[in-house]
Amino acid sequence: MKTKIIFIIGVSGVGKSTIANLLSQELQVPFFDGDDFHPKKNIKKMSDGKPLNDADRYDWLQNLHDLAVKQIKAKKSCIIVCSALKQAYRDILNHQIEQYSEWIFLHGSFLQVKKRLDNRKNHFMSSELLKSQFDILETPANAIKINVEKSPEHIVEIIKSQLNKTSEFGLFGLGVMGKSLSRNLANNGIKLSLFNRNVTGKEENIALNFKNKFPELATALPFDDIASFVNSIQKPRKIMLMVNAGKTIDLVIDNLLPYLSEGDILIDGGNSNYNKTKERHNYLMSKNIHFIGAGVSGGEEGALHGPSIMPGGTKEIYKKVQPYLEKIAAKDNNNLPCCSYVGPEGSGHFVKMVHNGIEYAEMQLLAEVFTLLKKLGENPDEIATILESWKAIENSYLLEITIDILRKKEGKDWLIHKIMDKAGNKGTGNWTTIATAQLGVPSTMITSSLFARYTSFFKEERIALSAYFDTSDLSLNANKEDILKAYQFARIINHYQGFKLIKEASNRYNWNINLSELARIWTNGCIIRSDLMTSLVTTFKTADHILQAPEIIEKLQSLKPSIKKVVAAGIVSEVAIPTLTDAISFLNSFSKANSSANIIQAQRDYFGAHTYQRTDDASGKFYHTHWNEN
Ligand code: 6PG
Repeated sequence: MKTKIIFIIGVSGVGKSTIANLLSQELQVPFFDGDDFHPKKNIKKMSDGKPLNDADRYDWLQNLHDLAVKQIKAKKSCIIVCSALKQAYRDILNHQIEQYSEWIFLHGSFLQVKKRLDNRKNHFMSSELLKSQFDILETPANAIKINVEKSPEHIVEIIKSQLNKTSEFGLFGLGVMGKSLSRNLANNGIKLSLFNRNVTGKEENIALNFKNKFPELATALPFDDIASFVNSIQKPRKIMLMVNAGKTIDLVIDNLLPYLSEGDILIDGGNSNYNKTKERHNYLMSKNIHFIGAGVSGGEEGALHGPSIMPGGTKEIYKKVQPYLEKIAAKDNNNLPCCSYVGPEGSGHFVKMVHNGIEYAEMQLLAEVFTLLKKLGENPDEIATILESWKAIENSYLLEITIDILRKKEGKDWLIHKIMDKAGNKGTGNWTTIATAQLGVPSTMITSSLFARYTSFFKEERIALSAYFDTSDLSLNANKEDILKAYQFARIINHYQGFKLIKEASNRYNWNINLSELARIWTNGCIIRSDLMTSLVTTFKTADHILQAPEIIEKLQSLKPSIKKVVAAGIVSEVAIPTLTDAISFLNSFSKANSSANIIQAQRDYFGAHTYQRTDDASGKFYHTHWNEN
């Protein structure tokens, strides 16, 4: 048994010593009666019949606390019996030893306890004295609570089973991702406590029913009350929160806080905003609770069989949850876990957010490829066959699922023809766009793929306008080889822009993110895993950004004629390909030694005296021109 200090508390007469005696024999650990630790002045006061005040009790509680610390240092468990009726008393006893302490609160009604006292030989306690104890009693939130109605043997059995009923890891929130992660944790031999809230008539016994459905959860402990859930987890507790990002996370944290102990660790595995993660980290720090913001990618299947995990926060704290997260993570080509410490604060959630931004653009590129191939007259099955042939050259998870999607039929028609063309989103693409604007990084493809989703949403307006802009007779002057090359080109630019955004954020916030390692944990488990990502692990070993690598420059040079052809043909035939277009437009701008920004600077200076720097003055000095003067 891990060293434990078991405090048995309650009013006089509930049978604390009897239970402690029995428990001490069962567990083979010593038991100390708190009354034996009063300082001399207290003993004198009590024998003079004077009641103790809080100041007197302070020294006594301090003695008991010292005893507990001594036991912990010697790695010896023990049982300490004392009334500890007020929370303030318990706080003294518990100070900085929370992770070792277990609290057993024996309780009964006034009449019950009075009767028990009256039955005791050689013991008298006035009703008033007992009443005063009930008056000051503050029921502990964080204790194993047992009614003394039961026999002492039964009580000891309950205590023993509760003490043994501890898990290594808690999972809060059994939605789609929470369920898959729980099964993954259990399949890896991790003893779990599971929690889902109870909403009468709507969500009842979720944790219990879920546990009963899967054999791997046989040893998991299901809960729908927070106190018992928290109490069932070994300290320092590690609890993963799998709930909706946003306000729900704050609510859950506030619900958990009263039951947590100093040093416990909460892991937010949702798609939380990185700024909020930093705030929550600092808020919980002030309460001596640790917080890890972990990006988790892979959807339902990934969560079950191995997601990619991007944890951020304090490194020392991460080390405490590392074994759990690494066990459940996907494995890369070298069998290393796709889970690695990203950096401090909200950096884990930041990179997950950009992951999703890259994901948006990757998805949009495939949607545009589909539109182009459709324009060439291919049906979904034929397009799937074309994409299938691309796997040998440009494989990715998203390519694979798109092939499956295109082949899916419902009756005689393809299911894709029946899916409404309005794309939803949960906000991460929006945040990436905000972040890229705030950090001054031109991640144009993420932004255009987000706006493509927004554009799709105005279905009625699109229908109305389509009557005026009929394009059905326009043919596409491009072939599928060029479309593949255009797609390859655009993917490189997308990855450049996404990683560049991460690099700039890392520089700005001193996160020190290792891009090669990040690419590595994205080689499996996550939605944007691909052969390109695997190659980037090596690229980032020597380059800070993708466009520094000679082999990538060479590749872009060879693919560029095709994307120019495809985008030009797309525009001529009026096919909507905003993200492919952005890819080539970006390189057209980014590869020019001289841009058109001199015109912008002159305009700014003209109307706003914003000044400009000159190409013929290397000092960097700023100039202003009086444009209207001769
Ligand atoms: C992942 C996904 C995952 C999820 C997003 C999709 O990495 O597993 O990115 O996080 O699918 O919520 O976001 P949208 O609803 O915004 O497309």
